[in-house]
Amino acid sequence: MILEAIQYTSTLPVTPKPFRPHIRSSVNLWARAGRCAKDWASHEAQCQTFIRETVSGMKERRTAVVLGSGLLRDVPVEFLSRAFDTVVLVDLVHLASVRLWLSAKRIRNVTLISRDLSGYDDVLAGRETEPLGFLRQVPWLDLVISANILSQIGVGAARRLEASEAADAADVVPKLVAAHLDGLAGLPCKTVLLTDTRYRVSDRSGAVLEDSDLMGGKTTPAAARSWPWTVAPFGEESRDYQIVHDVIAHAR
Ligand SMILES: C[S@@+](CC[C@H](N)C(=O)[O-])C[C@H]1O[C@@H](n2cnc3c(N)ncnc32)[C@H](O)[C@@H]1O
Repeated sequence: MILEAIQYTSTLPVTPKPFRPHIRSSVNLWARAGRCAKDWASHEAQCQTFIRETVSGMKERRTAVVLGSGLLRDVPVEFLSRAFDTVVLVDLVHLASVRLWLSAKRIRNVTLISRDLSGYDDVLAGRETEPLGFLRQVPWLDLVISANILSQIGVGAARRLEASEAADAADVVPKLVAAHLDGLAGLPCKTVLLTDTRYRVSDRSGAVLEDSDLMGGKTTPAAARSWPWTVAPFGEESRDYQIVHDVIAHAR
């Protein structure tokens, strides 16, 4: 609790004002990642391996952008920093501990940007949305990695809509998921998509209590690799059930 309070208060001044409401959920993610480190390790390693393997086949390595960089757990940032001239990390929030770690490691060619990558405001206003359109302004772009952010765009939007009742999540989430997938597919560079697509809640006997899609019904590109990710092991949300997500990795 004390460490979480320190994370929160030290992240506050380094986060642009419009993004400060998101600090709490980044701190919660950080705390959960610490508690579940053992159960998340295989997922994180597989994400990192997929990124390394994709980069190893690339000749041009000027700028790489990571969408949903967050805690830098599933992103091999030291490797990317060595492989590329410039690395741009984009997320709603980068915690003070992440910033401290980057400077302790003397990783100097990495830029951190706070940005809402969802397109939520456009969709709610009934406008066409192109949340990845800003990537057209990034010079020498050779790689874009969507790092386990896509499902969270939908989850975040559903949470906001639950509180505001401004629209039905069933109408909004598919549009946000499609905008992200179309945005990635339209980029004139190498792209990596890492995302959880479904989750299952099961009890200790193995009985499935809930099985839900995280992609708003949209089809994701064919997986080059897939694996389970125990997001909430027994004891995390309840001693009686666990939550396991299906993850896919795709490169184009
Ligand atoms: C499961 S975490 C990804 C973890 C991260 N790739 C890592 O290596 O630790 C999802 C990330 O997506 C970010 N996120 C969720 N919604 C977002 C949005 N609308 N715009 C930008 N980032 C968002 C969260 O802040 C969080 O860091």
